[in-house]
Amino acid sequence: MDHFNYRDGVLYAEDVPLTQLAAELGTPCYVYSKATFERHFRAYTEALGGHPHLICYAVKANSNLAVLGLLARLGAGFDIVSVGELERVLKAGGDPAKVVFSGVAKQPHEMARALEVGIKCFNVESRPELERLNTVAGELGKVASVSLRVNPDVDAGTHPYISTGLKDNKFGIPVDDALEVYQLAASLPNLRVTGLDCHIGSQLTETAPFLDALERLLVLMERLREHGIEIDHLDLGGGLGVPYRDEKPPQPFDYASQLLARLSRWEGGESLTLLFEPGRSIAANAGLMLTRVEFLKPGETKNFAIVDAAMNDLIRPALYQAWQAIVPVDTRQPREKSTYDVVGPVCETGDFLGKERELAIAEGDLLAVRSAGAYGFVMASNYNSRPRPPEVMVDGDTYHVVRARETLESLWAGEALLPEGAR
Ligand code: LLP
Repeated sequence: MDHFNYRDGVLYAEDVPLTQLAAELGTPCYVYSKATFERHFRAYTEALGGHPHLICYAVKANSNLAVLGLLARLGAGFDIVSVGELERVLKAGGDPAKVVFSGVAKQPHEMARALEVGIKCFNVESRPELERLNTVAGELGKVASVSLRVNPDVDAGTHPYISTGLKDNKFGIPVDDALEVYQLAASLPNLRVTGLDCHIGSQLTETAPFLDALERLLVLMERLREHGIEIDHLDLGGGLGVPYRDEKPPQPFDYASQLLARLSRWEGGESLTLLFEPGRSIAANAGLMLTRVEFLKPGETKNFAIVDAAMNDLIRPALYQAWQAIVPVDTRQPREKSTYDVVGPVCETGDFLGKERELAIAEGDLLAVRSAGAYGFVMASNYNSRPRPPEVMVDGDTYHVVRARETLESLWAGEALLPEGAR
C-alpha cells in the first residue's frame, strides 16, 4: 500500500497533485511520500512485535538524507556498504550503535572510521577481511564485533544480477567453510564474534528461499555451539520483493511470522535477536519519477514516446530489463490510445524506461514511472552531461525539496583544464 492515488483523474502524492510538482519544480523529478516510507518501515517493526529485533534499512536503496533522517527518527538501524553511506547516516542523525557494515571489500580507512564511531557490527565476507579488520582494530586499541556473512547456497529465484546466495556468487563465506572461519575469528584478539549473517538476493517473491536459508543457518549455529561459539544475533539480510507489476510478494508480516514460528521450535530461538536489512521493500513504492512527453514518434514497426527522463536518471529498465509501471499523471483530457516504447534522449538503443506500453497520451503530457523510490536516484549518473533530477519529499499537503536539481556548473565541478602550455 502506498500514498500515490488518483483524485478526479489526477495522480496525487499524498495530498499534493503531481501536476503542481511538475509545474513548480520541472521534470524529470523524483517524488517520495513520507507516509509511505513510514508505513513500510512500521510493517517490519509491527511484524516482529515483541521479539528482539533491529531493522537495519539498506542505505544503498535510497540514501537521501531526508529518507535516512525520517527512518532514524522511527528507530531504524542501517545497513551500510561504504564510509560514504556511514557518513550519510551520521549526518542524518542515525545512531552508529545500530549500524551494520556489509560489503566484500571494506578499506582499512573505512573500517577505522566505523570503529571510531562505534558501529554495532561488521558483516565480514572473507578470511582476509577478518585479518584486515583484526589489524585495524588492534592499531586503534578497539575490539570489533563481527558477524560472518555466510553463503547458504540457496537459489533465491530472482534475476541473476541480484541473486547473491549461490555458491558461484562473489558474496559471503561458503557455509561448509564457516565453522573454520568462525574459529579463526574467535582466535583473533581484536575481534568479538557476535552474529551470523546472510543475504541471498533481492526482489524475492516467495518465503521458501528465506526459510531454506534459515534452516541451513540454524544447523550451522548448532555446530558453532558445539564448538563453544555463541551467536547473539541472526541477520537475514534484505531481499523481500515488491509488486512492480503483478507479483504478489509476501508482506513483512507473513515473512516474519513464518520465521518466528520456526525459531520458536529451536532452542534459544526466542531470545535470538533478529536483524533485517530491507531496502527495496521500504523504499521502492514510496517513490516515483515524474517525466514529460517531449515527442510522439510513430514508426513503421513501433511507436516511440520520447520523454525527458532517460537511463541516466533511472537505469533499472536498461540494466535489468526491469518492468516499472508508467502511468499518465493527468487523465482529464480525452486521448487516443496507442502502444509505445517509452524512451529517453540518451544516445543508446538501450535507453528505455518501458517497452510496449499502452498509453493514452499526447505531447507535453506528464508520466509517472512508479516504484522508483529504491535503486532509482541512487543509481543515476550524469551520462550525456545530464544534470541529475531533484528529489522531493511530500508530507501531507506540503512538500520539501530534499535534493535540488543539479546545475550545469556542477557537471564539471572538480574538473580542470590542462595548464596553459601543457603538452
Ligand atoms: N543487504 C545486503 C548485504 C545487500 O547486498 C542488499 C542489496 C540489501 C541488504 C538490500 O536488499 P533489498 O531489500 O533492497 O532487496 N540495484 C538492484 C538491486 C541490488 C541489490 C543489492 N543488494 C535493483 O535495482 O534491482
